[in-house]
Amino acid sequence: MPTQTQSEPADALCSGTPPAAATGSGGSPVDSSQHAPRWHPGSWADRPAGQQPEWPDHTALSKSLSELGCRPPLVFAGEARRLTDHLGRVCAGEAFVLQAGDCAESFDLSTADQIRDRLKVILQMAVVLQYSAGLPIVKVGRIAGQFAKPRSQPMETRDGVTLPIFRGHIVNDIAFDPAARTPDPSRLLQAYNTSAATLNLLRAFTRGGYADLRQVHTWNQEFVASSPAGQRYEALANGIDSALRFMNACGLDTDDSAMRQVELYTSHEALLLGYEEAMTRTDSITGDWYDCSAHMLWIGERTREIDGAHVEFLRGVHNPIGVKLGPTATSDEVLALCEALNPDRIPGRLSLISRMGAGNVADAFGPILRAVTDADHPVVWQCDPMHGNTYTTDKSVKTRHFDAILSEIREYFAEHAKAGSWPGGIHLEITGDAVTECVGGGDELAQHQLGDRYETMCDPRLNGRQSLDLAFLVAELLAAAP
Ligand code: PEP
Ligand code: CO
Repeated sequence: MPTQTQSEPADALCSGTPPAAATGSGGSPVDSSQHAPRWHPGSWADRPAGQQPEWPDHTALSKSLSELGCRPPLVFAGEARRLTDHLGRVCAGEAFVLQAGDCAESFDLSTADQIRDRLKVILQMAVVLQYSAGLPIVKVGRIAGQFAKPRSQPMETRDGVTLPIFRGHIVNDIAFDPAARTPDPSRLLQAYNTSAATLNLLRAFTRGGYADLRQVHTWNQEFVASSPAGQRYEALANGIDSALRFMNACGLDTDDSAMRQVELYTSHEALLLGYEEAMTRTDSITGDWYDCSAHMLWIGERTREIDGAHVEFLRGVHNPIGVKLGPTATSDEVLALCEALNPDRIPGRLSLISRMGAGNVADAFGPILRAVTDADHPVVWQCDPMHGNTYTTDKSVKTRHFDAILSEIREYFAEHAKAGSWPGGIHLEITGDAVTECVGGGDELAQHQLGDRYETMCDPRLNGRQSLDLAFLVAELLAAAP
């Protein structure tokens, strides 16, 4: 995890002002931009906000939000700024970003072992990319806060019974019964607590020796190590061992913190604006607003309307932010988003995460890439090859094919090669576990195996082996990128 310097104290001050979602008014207004009307943490409440739950108990909601507003920040402004700087290097073509993790985190599956295993697969993929491409890899987890999900329907009907849809553990439970599905504001606090515990362990793992490059073999979980990609990884790890021994023999310091520690940043979709507002604080160093629920926040494909509440909220916080772009996004819409979200054109501030679907990249993404490049907007380009490639089998199981995922990434690299731009990074839904949610990959997981271990609460994730398979394939593309 990033290190908080002594000169940057924690900037958690309880504003004591209940968030707009509870009261209809936010914190004190500030002029955050000369290009747009006044922004304050609650200014989103005057705009249409999609994908918000129908909370039945507004008193309980107000109470939870007020309490959250007084809790310490989960991340510090200085850390978010450091991530912006790293992402600025990605903009300049000097680094690559790996943003990966669960589609939806679960309160129940946030045990120490599960957090460690999720970290392992990210470390493993990053080291493969870094070693093969010889580039710094900026590591951003979809972790420690990825609890809210946008849904295509507000309700779900089974056997004639209709209940509110599952919107992620921060809102309700997945069990199909009326009590479980009723949005429960106490879950906002549970999401904060689970995020804090997850982050605490991640900070310990990434600083306390577990992420030491000399531990590179221990990141290879048994289930992954026995696969061809796992064996290829062992050979790569042996290469790292030899390089470290060689450096030692040359008298170079391999005990440096760059070898012993890893910077892993956290991110999630900023979907529940009441929660995000309640976690927003002013930084005591710069006086700027930061959403201290995660280092990086993104706006989903379903909530990226230029006049909508999500764009309004994120334009005012100084964290690095992202926007998902699906196949219907137009160049004009994207240019307007760039102007609204990064008017000062700060490199690293804005990531555009395309999720067009295999076969669709040249037509749907190519014109956007050219328009943004021509307008000289500095953006971190990322490819999310998951969300445009989801389909439902004849047994009604949601899945994705490894080949389609890889195809979209290949097409994305090809578009960048054509445009002379830097492919920036990849945004994936993965788990270290031996789940069977996506088909294909080195093991050629078949459709009939999907029922063996299908555990996701939302979208299908690559398992540990498939994730490593993909890392090796992307590393080849990256090493060949102009
Ligand atoms: C997601 O990343 O889980 C998601 C819902 O993505 P999108 O907004 O691209 O559909
Ligand atoms: Co998803």
